[in-house]
Amino acid sequence: MPTDGAAYGELKLFCGSSIPALGREIADYLHVALGRVTLMRFADGEIYCRYEENARGEDAFVIQSTCDPVNEHLMELLIMVDALKRASAGRITAVVPYYGYGRKDKKDAPREPITGRLVADLLTTAGVNRMLTIDLHAGQIEGFFNIPVDHLRALPLFADYLGRKGLRDGVVVAPDDGAVRRSKQLADRLDLPLAVIFQRRVGTDAKEPIQVVGEVQGRIPILIEDIIDTAGTVMRAADVLLAQGCQPEIYVCSTHPVFAGPAFERLARPEIKEVIVTNTIPVPAERKPAKVTLLSAAPLLAEAIRRIHLNQSVSLLFT
Ligand code: R5P
Repeated sequence: MPTDGAAYGELKLFCGSSIPALGREIADYLHVALGRVTLMRFADGEIYCRYEENARGEDAFVIQSTCDPVNEHLMELLIMVDALKRASAGRITAVVPYYGYGRKDKKDAPREPITGRLVADLLTTAGVNRMLTIDLHAGQIEGFFNIPVDHLRALPLFADYLGRKGLRDGVVVAPDDGAVRRSKQLADRLDLPLAVIFQRRVGTDAKEPIQVVGEVQGRIPILIEDIIDTAGTVMRAADVLLAQGCQPEIYVCSTHPVFAGPAFERLARPEIKEVIVTNTIPVPAERKPAKVTLLSAAPLLAEAIRRIHLNQSVSLLFT
């Protein structure tokens, strides 16, 4: 890969244990080999890391999603960054396609933590100089970091994919008020109308729909989410949309396929036609239902890495 414009040494790409396939795809796109690193567990569960190649002065990128098991992957990332710092890497960029703990980005009740901020502090304390990520739960999490953050969006991937389907009777639906902005952007790109489901929080982890604003009757809903965790939000949205007379053919897009607990059972209902997600979190082939379509975020991430390394603008990737 050309190095004109690079402000640091050679581009070095290292991958943690959370998303090896995505790491390989990114490396292939960039035509670089993944850096050699030994990661192992001691008998008591502690993590050991050693880079098997020189990193002194180099432009190091560590790819790791802090997905399930979240604490393991987070700790592994911190240790990988610490080892790079102590190996005198020139610059360390954490490439965190899925930023776990990001959903707690504010206090909803007294005596709660703000884990999105805590993780940002941990990463910068460990030695991260830059962050590259996709679809943070809330844009303001960028502000939890006092280092540059390149915050990519998966929306263009969904827009391209759905655009090819030509869903002229579609309506883009925000499943809750937090999803309005990205839903509006998708609706604009697809030239479709927008509807919003307003929900009320009824517990730490639970909400219930209270109102649908916008016309959904006779239309094909396209829901867009940042995260599908237990698919509770999708299920409640589907119930309320079907009750309002939408077509029983619902498309769901989500950047981060957490797919925890009853998610697959919930998504199995026949009215949900297709679930389109990216590979920021691995979905094992043997568990992946046929209706789940995986779009790769590797080209987007790889291009951002290339541009960061060469000190070029990444804003082009947003359009
Ligand atoms: C919530 O604000 C998020 O954007 C997602 O809607 C939520 O995390 C999804 O969780 P679940 O799939 O468990 O409803």
